[in-house]
Amino acid sequence: MTKPQIDVLYSTEAIAARVAALAGEIRDAGFRENLLVVAVLKGGFVFAADLIRALHVAGVSPEVDFMSLSSYRAGTASSGTVTVLRDLETDVTGRNVLIVDDILESGRTLAYAKTLLAERGAARVGLAVLLDKPGHRVAAIEGDFVGFTCPDLFVVGYGMDMGHAFRELPYIGHVVTAQ
Ligand code: IMP
Ligand code: MG
Repeated sequence: MTKPQIDVLYSTEAIAARVAALAGEIRDAGFRENLLVVAVLKGGFVFAADLIRALHVAGVSPEVDFMSLSSYRAGTASSGTVTVLRDLETDVTGRNVLIVDDILESGRTLAYAKTLLAERGAARVGLAVLLDKPGHRVAAIEGDFVGFTCPDLFVVGYGMDMGHAFRELPYIGHVVTAQ
């Protein structure tokens, strides 16, 4: 098996600069008080980890909880249905909630999560995604805070995987040859 070639799309430095700017946008959009960051596992965990520290620098003190939702399984094709694999422990009633995930693509997963948390009584539900891939949108949903609008490529790194590999890369790359 040859090692796939991964071309850098967004460098560590470019990501860090954008995440810092996003934290300021989130603060200025009124998510400052009583904020619960909901990190969507697994792909959103690296972005969420950096974003909460950028929020601290921006003067915001969020609480953090985690949700695991199934959409993509072990491969690269969407299952088309959403299930909650791991739910929040936190009561979202009356809170400012910011869902944080890696990629908004079809939007099915995040539309489901947004509706669920709104129905549970969150005062406001915002959506922060590191990457927006608008080309394959199915659900009527847009990110409130978007890191980068991404070309229609399969990307890995910074929490994102291909068949469970490459989450550890400190940059976002495009897999050129995978075998
Ligand atoms: P959707 O918006 O419901 O289609 O789900 C988007 C999810 O699919 C993301 O959170 C990722 O977990 C996964 N995904 C979509 N595109 C990619 C990619 O290029 N690389 C890795 N995961 C991806
Ligand atoms: Mg995901």
